[in-house]
Amino acid sequence: MLDTFEVNKVLGAVLGTFLGIQAVHLTAGAVFAPQIPAKPGFEIEVKETPASGPAAAPKEEPFEPLLASANAERGQAATKPCEACHTFEKGGPNRVGPNLWAVVNRPRASESGFNYSAAMKSKGGTWTYDELNKFLANPRRDIPGTAMTFAGIDRERQRADVVAYLRTLSDNPPPLPQVAQPSEDSKSDSKTDAKGGGDAQGNAKGGPSGDAKGNAKGGTSGDAKGNAK
Ligand code: HEC
Repeated sequence: MLDTFEVNKVLGAVLGTFLGIQAVHLTAGAVFAPQIPAKPGFEIEVKETPASGPAAAPKEEPFEPLLASANAERGQAATKPCEACHTFEKGGPNRVGPNLWAVVNRPRASESGFNYSAAMKSKGGTWTYDELNKFLANPRRDIPGTAMTFAGIDRERQRADVVAYLRTLSDNPPPLPQVAQPSEDSKSDSKTDAKGGGDAQGNAKGGPSGDAKGNAKGGTSGDAKGNAK
């Protein structure tokens, strides 16, 4: 017959097992807690770039409107430092750098008699307005290995002036880019667009496991907060 002590032992064992199982269950529950989405569906990975768009936008104005309103004379004045290495007149000689007559829409590294760097030769393509803008902003970042040891022109407006001047160096200057709207409008448009992008992103983040992100987005978009909660 079992005495009380034996019974207690058995009961204790049963209770211990039960507590053990419960403990495992609780731990597992904590570790593998299902992440219940605030909104059913899958999280869609949206690139982070649009979120930083509004902040970055004022820095990188679209080049085309700037060029359309650029001043070629100011541009010519700004090419003084270039003259250390370049000539600009028709038939001018190559110096440290190639002659730049009619460089707009000229294929890269195509001035005859000039010994271009391997980097410039292998880059290929054409000197469009945009490519000139990128190159002149920071030549060695745009084409690593270029032989043009010139720091670059920081100010976008000044680059636009310089490119507008380069454009005039031609018997038949290429047309300026067509800008659909006056530059004021296109500016505000692009800002609204960028904001719209931010909102869409906030909503997308409202999805599963996006709680932390959703809250982080709360700053830029009230929607995201609402969804996360
Ligand atoms: C220190 C000398 C130097 C200065 C200053 C300089 N460049 Fe250059 N530039 C070069 C050299 C060298 C090359 C050829 C680069 C290569 O082969 O990688 C070049 C190439 C170019 C090209 C490409 C031409 C082609 O035929 O593919 C353009 C456009 C250009 N320079 C514009 C300018 C402008 C505009 C300025 C002034 C804002 C300027 N450069 C200032 C040395 C210079």
